[in-house]
Amino acid sequence: MNARSIASSMADTALHGKVALVTGASKGLGKAIAAALARAGAEVVLVAREPRHLEDAASQIQSLGGCAWCHAADVADEAQVAELARSFRQRSPRLDILVNNAGINIRKPIADFTLDEWNRVLATNLTGPFLMCRSFVPLIKGGGFGRILNLTSMMSHVALPERTLYATTKAGLLGFTRALALELAPDRITVNGISPGPCATEINRPILENPELTRSFLSRIPLARWGDPGEVAALALFLCSEKAGFITGTDIVIDGGWCAQ
Ligand SMILES: NC(=O)c1ccc[n+]([C@@H]2O[C@H](COP(=O)([O-])OP(=O)(O)OC[C@H]3O[C@@H](n4cnc5c(N)ncnc54)[C@H](OP(=O)(O)O)[C@@H]3O)[C@@H](O)[C@H]2O)c1
Repeated sequence: MNARSIASSMADTALHGKVALVTGASKGLGKAIAAALARAGAEVVLVAREPRHLEDAASQIQSLGGCAWCHAADVADEAQVAELARSFRQRSPRLDILVNNAGINIRKPIADFTLDEWNRVLATNLTGPFLMCRSFVPLIKGGGFGRILNLTSMMSHVALPERTLYATTKAGLLGFTRALALELAPDRITVNGISPGPCATEINRPILENPELTRSFLSRIPLARWGDPGEVAALALFLCSEKAGFITGTDIVIDGGWCAQ
Protein backbone atom coordinates (compact mmCIF):
# COMPACT_ATOMS: atom_id res chain seq x y z
CA MET A 1 0.00 0.00 0.00
CA ASN A 2 1.51 3.37 -0.98
CA ALA A 3 1.10 6.67 0.87
CA ARG A 4 -1.68 7.82 -1.46
CA SER A 5 -3.80 4.67 -0.95
CA ILE A 6 -3.23 4.80 2.83
CA ALA A 7 -4.37 8.44 2.84
CA SER A 8 -7.39 7.58 0.72
CA SER A 9 -8.43 4.62 2.91
CA MET A 10 -8.15 6.85 6.01
CA ALA A 11 -10.28 9.43 4.22
CA ASP A 12 -12.89 6.70 3.62
CA THR A 13 -13.60 6.45 7.35
CA ALA A 14 -13.31 10.19 7.98
CA LEU A 15 -16.50 11.77 9.28
CA HIS A 16 -15.66 15.48 9.03
CA GLY A 17 -18.83 17.56 8.79
CA LYS A 18 -21.04 14.72 10.04
CA VAL A 19 -23.21 14.94 13.15
CA ALA A 20 -23.63 11.78 15.24
CA LEU A 21 -25.74 10.93 18.28
CA VAL A 22 -24.83 7.99 20.54
CA THR A 23 -27.14 6.77 23.32
CA GLY A 24 -25.65 5.14 26.42
CA ALA A 25 -22.49 7.11 25.65
CA SER A 26 -21.35 7.74 29.23
CA LYS A 27 -19.74 4.32 29.71
CA GLY A 28 -18.60 1.10 28.10
CA LEU A 29 -19.22 0.47 24.42
CA GLY A 30 -21.19 3.68 23.82
CA LYS A 31 -18.39 5.84 25.21
CA ALA A 32 -15.81 4.05 23.04
CA ILE A 33 -18.03 4.43 19.95
CA ALA A 34 -18.62 8.14 20.64
CA ALA A 35 -14.86 8.68 21.04
CA ALA A 36 -14.09 6.82 17.78
CA LEU A 37 -16.66 8.86 15.81
CA ALA A 38 -15.30 12.10 17.30
CA ARG A 39 -11.70 11.10 16.50
CA ALA A 40 -12.82 10.56 12.90
CA GLY A 41 -14.03 14.17 12.83
CA ALA A 42 -17.76 13.92 13.60
CA GLU A 43 -19.52 16.28 15.99
CA VAL A 44 -20.91 13.83 18.56
CA VAL A 45 -23.88 14.20 20.90
CA LEU A 46 -23.65 11.92 23.94
CA VAL A 47 -26.85 10.77 25.66
CA ALA A 48 -27.38 8.81 28.91
CA ARG A 49 -29.47 9.28 32.06
CA GLU A 50 -26.96 10.15 34.76
CA PRO A 51 -25.34 13.55 34.02
CA ARG A 52 -22.04 13.19 35.92
CA HIS A 53 -20.53 10.31 33.91
CA LEU A 54 -21.99 11.79 30.73
CA GLU A 55 -20.28 15.15 31.28
CA ASP A 56 -17.00 13.37 32.14
CA ALA A 57 -17.20 11.39 28.88
CA ALA A 58 -17.90 14.54 26.82
CA SER A 59 -14.99 16.37 28.53
CA GLN A 60 -12.61 13.48 27.84
CA ILE A 61 -13.52 13.56 24.14
CA GLN A 62 -13.14 17.36 24.04
CA SER A 63 -9.75 17.19 25.76
CA LEU A 64 -8.56 14.92 22.95
CA GLY A 65 -9.60 17.55 20.42
CA GLY A 66 -13.00 16.02 19.53
CA CYS A 67 -16.22 17.96 19.18
CA ALA A 68 -18.75 16.64 21.71
CA TRP A 69 -21.69 17.84 23.74
CA CYS A 70 -24.12 15.94 25.91
CA HIS A 71 -27.76 15.82 26.93
CA ALA A 72 -29.08 13.73 29.83
CA ALA A 73 -32.16 11.74 28.84
CA ASP A 74 -33.82 8.38 29.41
CA VAL A 75 -34.35 6.80 25.97
CA ALA A 76 -37.29 4.83 27.37
CA ASP A 77 -39.21 7.99 28.26
CA GLU A 78 -41.26 9.48 25.42
CA ALA A 79 -41.30 13.03 26.85
CA GLN A 80 -37.53 13.02 27.50
CA VAL A 81 -36.77 11.82 23.96
CA ALA A 82 -39.06 14.55 22.58
CA GLU A 83 -37.19 17.14 24.69
CA LEU A 84 -33.84 15.71 23.51
CA ALA A 85 -34.97 16.08 19.87
CA ARG A 86 -36.16 19.65 20.52
CA SER A 87 -32.87 20.65 22.14
CA PHE A 88 -30.91 18.86 19.38
CA ARG A 89 -32.77 20.79 16.64
CA GLN A 90 -31.77 24.07 18.28
CA ARG A 91 -28.10 23.19 17.69
CA SER A 92 -28.28 21.25 14.44
CA PRO A 93 -30.87 21.07 11.64
CA ARG A 94 -29.78 17.57 10.66
CA LEU A 95 -28.35 14.32 11.98
CA ASP A 96 -26.16 11.92 9.95
CA ILE A 97 -25.47 9.04 12.34
CA LEU A 98 -27.63 7.56 15.11
CA VAL A 99 -26.20 4.84 17.37
CA ASN A 100 -28.84 3.16 19.53
CA ASN A 101 -26.50 1.71 22.13
CA ALA A 102 -28.22 2.23 25.52
CA GLY A 103 -29.16 -1.12 26.99
CA ILE A 104 -29.61 -2.97 30.28
CA ASN A 105 -29.71 -6.60 31.34
CA ILE A 106 -31.38 -8.40 34.25
CA ARG A 107 -30.39 -12.04 34.66
CA LYS A 108 -32.73 -14.29 36.65
CA PRO A 109 -35.01 -17.32 36.36
CA ILE A 110 -38.33 -16.59 34.62
CA ALA A 111 -40.42 -17.14 37.78
CA ASP A 112 -38.46 -14.45 39.65
CA PHE A 113 -39.05 -11.58 37.23
CA THR A 114 -41.43 -8.84 38.31
CA LEU A 115 -43.57 -7.23 35.63
CA ASP A 116 -41.81 -3.95 36.42
CA GLU A 117 -38.41 -5.51 35.58
CA TRP A 118 -39.81 -7.00 32.35
CA ASN A 119 -41.23 -3.62 31.32
CA ARG A 120 -38.04 -1.74 32.28
CA VAL A 121 -35.76 -3.90 30.11
CA LEU A 122 -38.24 -3.90 27.19
CA ALA A 123 -38.58 -0.12 27.46
CA THR A 124 -34.82 0.52 27.45
CA ASN A 125 -33.69 -2.06 24.89
CA LEU A 126 -36.60 -1.94 22.42
CA THR A 127 -38.88 1.04 23.02
CA GLY A 128 -35.77 3.25 23.32
CA PRO A 129 -34.53 2.58 19.76
CA PHE A 130 -38.14 3.00 18.49
CA LEU A 131 -38.56 6.39 20.21
CA MET A 132 -35.12 7.56 19.06
CA CYS A 133 -35.69 6.50 15.45
CA ARG A 134 -39.18 8.02 15.39
CA SER A 135 -37.80 11.38 16.51
CA PHE A 136 -34.50 11.41 14.62
CA VAL A 137 -35.09 9.63 11.29
CA PRO A 138 -36.82 12.77 9.92
CA LEU A 139 -33.58 14.70 10.69
CA ILE A 140 -31.44 12.08 8.91
CA LYS A 141 -33.62 11.92 5.78
CA GLY A 142 -32.86 14.21 2.87
CA GLY A 143 -29.08 14.39 3.31
CA GLY A 144 -28.29 11.59 0.84
CA PHE A 145 -26.30 9.88 3.60
CA GLY A 146 -27.40 8.28 6.84
CA ARG A 147 -26.27 5.58 9.23
CA ILE A 148 -28.24 3.93 12.01
CA LEU A 149 -26.50 1.35 14.21
CA ASN A 150 -28.33 -0.72 16.79
CA LEU A 151 -26.36 -2.52 19.49
CA THR A 152 -27.91 -5.95 19.33
CA SER A 153 -26.01 -8.81 20.99
CA MET A 154 -24.74 -12.34 20.47
CA MET A 155 -27.93 -12.97 22.46
CA SER A 156 -29.85 -11.96 19.28
CA HIS A 157 -28.46 -15.17 17.75
CA VAL A 158 -27.91 -17.65 20.58
CA ALA A 159 -29.20 -17.91 24.14
CA LEU A 160 -28.14 -18.61 27.71
CA PRO A 161 -30.24 -19.65 30.70
CA GLU A 162 -31.73 -16.82 32.81
CA ARG A 163 -31.54 -14.35 29.87
CA THR A 164 -35.16 -14.72 28.67
CA LEU A 165 -35.89 -11.03 28.87
CA TYR A 166 -32.58 -9.74 27.48
CA ALA A 167 -32.56 -12.31 24.64
CA THR A 168 -36.16 -11.36 23.77
CA THR A 169 -35.29 -7.68 23.45
CA LYS A 170 -32.11 -8.28 21.45
CA ALA A 171 -33.83 -10.68 19.02
CA GLY A 172 -36.58 -8.07 18.65
CA LEU A 173 -34.01 -5.36 17.96
CA LEU A 174 -32.58 -7.48 15.14
CA GLY A 175 -36.04 -7.67 13.50
CA PHE A 176 -36.46 -3.91 14.01
CA THR A 177 -33.07 -3.37 12.33
CA ARG A 178 -33.94 -5.42 9.24
CA ALA A 179 -37.38 -3.87 8.71
CA LEU A 180 -36.12 -0.30 9.20
CA ALA A 181 -33.25 -0.96 6.76
CA LEU A 182 -35.77 -1.84 4.04
CA GLU A 183 -37.93 1.19 4.87
CA LEU A 184 -35.01 3.64 4.74
CA ALA A 185 -33.01 2.18 1.83
CA PRO A 186 -34.70 4.52 -0.71
CA ASP A 187 -33.37 7.43 1.39
CA ARG A 188 -29.80 6.04 1.24
CA ILE A 189 -29.85 5.49 5.00
CA THR A 190 -28.24 2.21 6.09
CA VAL A 191 -29.43 0.42 9.22
CA ASN A 192 -27.32 -2.33 10.77
CA GLY A 193 -26.82 -4.22 14.00
CA ILE A 194 -23.61 -4.88 15.86
CA SER A 195 -23.78 -8.02 18.01
CA PRO A 196 -21.00 -8.01 20.58
CA GLY A 197 -20.06 -11.04 22.59
CA PRO A 198 -18.83 -10.60 26.17
CA CYS A 199 -16.98 -7.31 26.71
CA ALA A 200 -15.58 -6.22 30.06
CA THR A 201 -18.03 -3.39 30.79
CA GLU A 202 -20.38 -2.51 33.62
CA ILE A 203 -23.30 -4.49 32.18
CA ASN A 204 -21.22 -7.62 32.89
CA ARG A 205 -20.28 -6.62 36.44
CA PRO A 206 -22.16 -9.61 37.98
CA ILE A 207 -19.92 -11.93 35.92
CA LEU A 208 -16.70 -9.90 36.26
CA GLU A 209 -17.05 -9.80 40.06
CA ASN A 210 -17.51 -13.57 40.30
CA PRO A 211 -14.24 -15.47 39.56
CA GLU A 212 -16.08 -18.77 39.03
CA LEU A 213 -18.51 -17.21 36.51
CA THR A 214 -15.64 -15.36 34.82
CA ARG A 215 -13.69 -18.60 34.38
CA SER A 216 -16.73 -20.38 33.01
CA PHE A 217 -17.50 -17.52 30.58
CA LEU A 218 -13.93 -17.30 29.31
CA SER A 219 -13.83 -21.06 28.78
CA ARG A 220 -16.76 -20.68 26.35
CA ILE A 221 -15.13 -17.95 24.24
CA PRO A 222 -12.93 -19.55 21.56
CA LEU A 223 -10.51 -16.59 21.68
CA ALA A 224 -10.48 -17.01 25.50
CA ARG A 225 -10.65 -13.32 26.40
CA TRP A 226 -13.11 -10.49 26.90
CA GLY A 227 -13.82 -8.20 23.97
CA ASP A 228 -12.41 -4.70 24.17
CA PRO A 229 -14.78 -1.70 23.71
CA GLY A 230 -12.23 -0.26 21.25
CA GLU A 231 -12.70 -3.30 19.00
CA VAL A 232 -16.48 -2.75 18.90
CA ALA A 233 -15.91 0.98 18.30
CA ALA A 234 -13.63 0.25 15.31
CA LEU A 235 -16.39 -1.84 13.71
CA ALA A 236 -18.96 0.87 14.45
CA LEU A 237 -16.71 3.50 12.86
CA PHE A 238 -16.37 1.42 9.69
CA LEU A 239 -20.15 0.85 9.47
CA CYS A 240 -20.71 4.61 9.88
CA SER A 241 -18.25 5.49 7.13
CA GLU A 242 -18.84 6.17 3.43
CA LYS A 243 -16.98 2.93 2.73
CA ALA A 244 -19.79 0.82 4.28
CA GLY A 245 -22.48 2.31 2.01
CA PHE A 246 -23.52 -1.06 0.51
CA ILE A 247 -24.01 -2.76 3.91
CA THR A 248 -27.57 -2.56 5.23
CA GLY A 249 -30.18 -4.71 6.96
CA THR A 250 -27.58 -7.00 8.45
CA ASP A 251 -25.97 -7.68 11.78
CA ILE A 252 -22.27 -8.17 12.38
CA VAL A 253 -21.22 -10.45 15.21
CA ILE A 254 -18.04 -9.54 17.13
CA ASP A 255 -17.83 -12.21 19.80
CA GLY A 256 -14.45 -13.96 19.86
CA GLY A 257 -16.07 -16.90 18.08
CA TRP A 258 -18.87 -17.71 20.59
CA CYS A 259 -21.65 -17.98 17.98
CA ALA A 260 -19.55 -20.18 15.68
CA GLN A 261 -19.78 -23.09 18.14
N1 LIG B 1 -20.76 -5.43 27.10
C1 LIG B 1 -21.18 -6.55 26.50
O1 LIG B 1 -20.65 -7.62 26.75
C2 LIG B 1 -22.33 -6.50 25.53
C3 LIG B 1 -22.58 -7.64 24.77
C4 LIG B 1 -23.64 -7.60 23.86
C5 LIG B 1 -24.40 -6.47 23.71
N2 LIG B 1 -24.13 -5.37 24.46
C6 LIG B 1 -24.99 -4.21 24.28
O2 LIG B 1 -24.19 -3.07 24.04
C7 LIG B 1 -24.82 -1.91 24.59
C8 LIG B 1 -23.84 -1.19 25.52
O3 LIG B 1 -23.46 -2.08 26.55
P1 LIG B 1 -22.31 -1.72 27.60
O4 LIG B 1 -21.64 -2.98 27.90
O5 LIG B 1 -21.52 -0.56 27.15
O6 LIG B 1 -23.22 -1.29 28.87
P2 LIG B 1 -22.84 -0.36 30.11
O7 LIG B 1 -21.37 -0.29 30.31
O8 LIG B 1 -23.70 -0.85 31.23
O9 LIG B 1 -23.34 1.10 29.67
C9 LIG B 1 -24.69 1.31 29.39
C10 LIG B 1 -24.89 2.76 28.98
O10 LIG B 1 -26.28 2.95 28.67
C11 LIG B 1 -26.79 4.03 29.46
N3 LIG B 1 -28.21 3.75 29.68
C12 LIG B 1 -28.78 2.69 30.29
N4 LIG B 1 -30.11 2.82 30.30
C13 LIG B 1 -30.40 3.97 29.66
C14 LIG B 1 -31.59 4.66 29.35
N5 LIG B 1 -32.79 4.18 29.71
N6 LIG B 1 -31.51 5.84 28.68
C15 LIG B 1 -30.31 6.34 28.31
N7 LIG B 1 -29.15 5.74 28.58
C16 LIG B 1 -29.20 4.57 29.25
C17 LIG B 1 -25.91 4.02 30.71
O11 LIG B 1 -25.86 5.27 31.39
P3 LIG B 1 -26.95 5.68 32.52
O12 LIG B 1 -27.09 4.50 33.42
O13 LIG B 1 -26.41 6.90 33.16
O14 LIG B 1 -28.21 5.97 31.75
C18 LIG B 1 -24.54 3.73 30.08
O15 LIG B 1 -24.03 4.91 29.49
C19 LIG B 1 -26.08 -2.40 25.30
O16 LIG B 1 -27.18 -2.27 24.43
C20 LIG B 1 -25.79 -3.87 25.52
O17 LIG B 1 -26.96 -4.65 25.61
C21 LIG B 1 -23.11 -5.35 25.37
